[in-house]
Amino acid sequence: MNFTDRPRRLRRDGIRELVSETTLRANDLIAPVFVDATTDERVEIESMPGHERVPIAESVARVEEVLETGVEAVMLFGIPESKDERGSRAWAEDGVVQEATRRITAETDATVITDVCLCEYTDHGHCGIVEDRAADDPRLTVKNDETLELLRKVSVSHAEAGAEMVAPSSMTDGMVEAIRTGLDEAGFSDVPIMSYAAKYESAFYGPFRDAADGAPAFGDRRHYQMDPANVREAMREVELDVEQGADVLMVKPALPYLDIVRDIREEYDHPVAAYNVSGEYAMLHAASENGWLDLRETALESLLSIKRAGADLILTYFAEDIADELA
Ligand code: PBG
Repeated sequence: MNFTDRPRRLRRDGIRELVSETTLRANDLIAPVFVDATTDERVEIESMPGHERVPIAESVARVEEVLETGVEAVMLFGIPESKDERGSRAWAEDGVVQEATRRITAETDATVITDVCLCEYTDHGHCGIVEDRAADDPRLTVKNDETLELLRKVSVSHAEAGAEMVAPSSMTDGMVEAIRTGLDEAGFSDVPIMSYAAKYESAFYGPFRDAADGAPAFGDRRHYQMDPANVREAMREVELDVEQGADVLMVKPALPYLDIVRDIREEYDHPVAAYNVSGEYAMLHAASENGWLDLRETALESLLSIKRAGADLILTYFAEDIADELA
């Protein structure tokens, strides 16, 4: 036996850490927070153990809990008190996200990022204005260009409330340009856009749709979110968002799409974000509740894999649970 190269030499404790290639820091993580205008109490989200919808009055307390763990950024999602066809509560000055953003930025040091979409605000649950067709008409789709104006209004209203970054998630063509122009005209040229650039039509969003009450009332999102079969298309989506001025490029979901994360990392110099979505969280919880997996270890390994694939930042429901283990 005469090996000269024995990789195991570097795997002993003490050496192993020195040669570790990937690190996960609490600062890389963004914790999603749900603010609910329909409740006066915190409500547990059954399919996402440990997560709650909190009333506006509790939004500061909720974010303080996040900050205590070492995580410094939150992504706010809102559940409005009422919904309508156009989702008008999404850009209301006294809307749920606007109100929570004002309080959180005034009273904490958290970095507040807001999800910009209409599906939680429209009575039909789609991410924009829908065409005037029967609900079961297969041609029914979201009116792309008319939705842009609404997304612009939502983004400006979030920036006015103090949001430090906006994250459009509707997969509307042209959304980044519309929002960039809107923000610039309103005097917010320094507010960055984290675009959900490659967002797939994924079955892993199930628990979120319960949490945010944003499931489509009819049809599905496959005519605007991406086909899981496609990778070249993701690169086109990203290219368009870059041309339109996106500052951070997001891939969503994360674990089933690490090839996309890697491809974007290699092609672009922009920061890449990955959204470790509700289903990715729920499945580890379900397995660990059955005693089949160790929750903490699998969560850490998942997040490390997402970083190793090339993500700089990760949106994850595990943020608070694992932050204490991180530098
Ligand atoms: C809104 C939005 C969704 C998620 C984030 N923003 C739902 C969807 O597109 O159906 C999903 C997040 C998750 O599953 O954790 N458009």
